[in-house]
Amino acid sequence: MVHLIQATFAMPNSPFSFLRSALQLVTDPSAQDNAFKQMDQALKFISTEVQANRPNPSDNLPTAVKSGLLSSEEKTLVAGLMRVNHVGEVCAQALYQAQAQATNNPALKEVFIEAAKDEADHLAWTGQRLSELGAQPSVLNPVWYAGAYGLGWVAGKMGDATSLGFLAETEKQVEAHLTTHLKKLPAQDHASRAIVEQMRLEEAGHGHHAAQLGGTPPALPVRLAMRFMSKIMTTVAQRI
Ligand SMILES: [Fe+2]
Ligand SMILES: [Fe+2]
Repeated sequence: MVHLIQATFAMPNSPFSFLRSALQLVTDPSAQDNAFKQMDQALKFISTEVQANRPNPSDNLPTAVKSGLLSSEEKTLVAGLMRVNHVGEVCAQALYQAQAQATNNPALKEVFIEAAKDEADHLAWTGQRLSELGAQPSVLNPVWYAGAYGLGWVAGKMGDATSLGFLAETEKQVEAHLTTHLKKLPAQDHASRAIVEQMRLEEAGHGHHAAQLGGTPPALPVRLAMRFMSKIMTTVAQRI
């Protein structure tokens, strides 16, 4: 019996893995060090400190085209849409960081960390566009980050196939959402459109990659719940 309990406790994807991680945090100095690093990263991602490693897709546009003439209503609309996209990238960063922490597979951990680098560029580009528009990121970014980190960690602890499937579905929903933004953005706002178009291509790539690596598609109720939560997030983030 004792052996059975010990074996269950040691299984990477058992419900006890949550308890084991919590115990590690209390007793293991390296786990505490890692938790502080995660918190430090979180503070960076929810601030405006993130620097892109690649050029902003709108950088090549001539200044006259980039600044495009937007009415004040259009500016408000674009600021809202780009704030939503910025929040999406804050959440993507949290999901990838959490999923990288949750997996015990070093190769998969590396996949999440690499993908998070693309998302950091998206975060920086959308943040840059918001400041060009004189708009602020969402004041609720710490809440979005914490919620997404929790979801990513739980998905990660449910096993690599589930974690990858959750990621593939997230990216699929983000890609569809960015497609609707391309329809809503004013035609003359070439700067926002260039950023969103590049992000849409890369989100599709992340989704295909996760599916190819063996992601199991989430069940319909989970997909619907993800859509519902995304609807709440986009509706709120467009305003604050
Ligand atoms: Fe992204
Ligand atoms: Fe992505």
